[in-house]
Formats: sequence, structure tokens, C-alpha cells
Amino acid sequence: MRRKRIYEGKAKVLFEGPEPGTLVQYFKDDATAFNNQKKGTITGKGVLNNRISEYLMMRLESIGVPTHFVRRLNMREQLVREVEIIPLEVVVRNVAAGSLSKRLGIEEGTALPRSIVEYYLKNDALGDPLVTEEHITCFNWAGPQDLDEMMQMALRVNDFLTGLFLGVGIKLVDFKLEFGRLWEEDQMRIVLADEISPDSCRLWDIKTNEKLDKDRFRRDLGKVEEAYQEIARRLGVLPEA
Ligand code: C5P
Repeated sequence: MRRKRIYEGKAKVLFEGPEPGTLVQYFKDDATAFNNQKKGTITGKGVLNNRISEYLMMRLESIGVPTHFVRRLNMREQLVREVEIIPLEVVVRNVAAGSLSKRLGIEEGTALPRSIVEYYLKNDALGDPLVTEEHITCFNWAGPQDLDEMMQMALRVNDFLTGLFLGVGIKLVDFKLEFGRLWEEDQMRIVLADEISPDSCRLWDIKTNEKLDKDRFRRDLGKVEEAYQEIARRLGVLPEA
């Protein structure tokens, strides 16, 4: 079937959906890191991220967090509502790691006394720079109310997912969310969009601190596929072989 390709990202493709206002989100095995400087393939990643993101979005919906997710269509595709993506990456951190450790010299693994929410501008050419609330409202990437809503939702997602992962022996170190605007009868709503998966989260085994996420690819730690499988297995969504 020939479908209109709406957008192609690094790890996903968005196709025109079967009904107006819907899109099909296709999960690829491609992986990139360091703003596209490192490229590779993680075999089976698309299938696993499709399942993991479906599961997490459905659990979030069940506690009243609105998302773009409608239903999974097949191994690599899910139906989502078409939204206008807000050009920000909202990162929540519970433990120091990654760019926070690097930028501020805080040792990776240091527990943060309280969760931190950060905003990055989605702009490949600029390397997704860290931006403040003042930048965001000044340049109108989001209004003060939108920003407040995104922050509240991000913290709610953090509380819920921290507990959910803890229940399966995993520490939710940090993660990235994207939000979109959805119009319904002239009413605008902000909903969670994109995906939540080991591509967008740091997930460490609670006992061993073993990394079970995309850092295994970024840092050439090996056993990348196995890490994604382990997350799916612990969440109870590992597809049958
Ligand atoms: O690299 P950094 O430490 O800022 O990443 C914080 C979190 O956001 C990590 O879980 C990482 O996987 C995620 N992230 C992402 N996409 C980006 C940048 C970061 O999913 N473009």
C-alpha cells in the first residue's frame, strides 16, 4: 500500500493515517546519537519500542494523562492522533547522568534531592540547545500556561513511571517527553506525543546499576538489543519469538 509520508525522523516515520486527524507512527531499527554524528542499527528495536511505548502510553492514559496514542496496528506501527508538535524536548531527571553530569560536573549516579525539569529546543542545526522558560515564552515556542501544563504533566508522568519501573526492579534515571497541541471543537488541549522507550529514557537495574537503555549504543557498551528486550520482558510486553 502506498501511503503519504508526512515526516521522517531519526528513529520513526509518520505516515498519513486512515482517517483525517490520524497518523501512523512507524518505528525503525535505526539509532542515532550525539546529534546524528553516530549512526547505527539496533536489530528489533522498532518492534520493542512500539510495544513498550504502547504499554507506557496506555498506562498513562489510565491515570488521566492525555496522549496522542490510539492503538497499536502491527509489529512496527501504531495509530496516533495528529498533533502540532511543540518544538521542545522536556527532560525530567531524578539521578545525575548524561548531559547534566557533563555540563555541571556532577558525578553520574548522584541522586538529585528533587526532580529537575529541563527544556531543550528541538533544532538539529543548533544541536537541541538547553533553553529557559524565558526563552520559550519570549520566542513564543509555548505560552506560559502551556509551559505550566507541560511541567505539571511531566512531573506526573515522572511520579507514575518511577513507581511503575521500580516495581520491575528498574531505576528511572531520566527521560525526555514531547508534547503536541490537539484541537477539538475549537478547544486546544496539550497531549503527550512521540514515544516513551529505552531510546528516550535512562533505565538502570536497581541492584546492579546496569544500563538498560540507549546509552549502551551511545557508549558502545555492547548487548544493546538485549537491554531493550530486558525492558520489554520486565514490563511483560516482550513479543513472542
Ligand atoms: O543527553 P541528556 O542527558 O540531556 O538526556 C536526558 C534524557 O533525555 C535521556 O534519557 C535521553 O535518552 C533523553 N533524550 C532524548 N532525545 C534527545 C536528547 C535526550 O530522548 N534528543
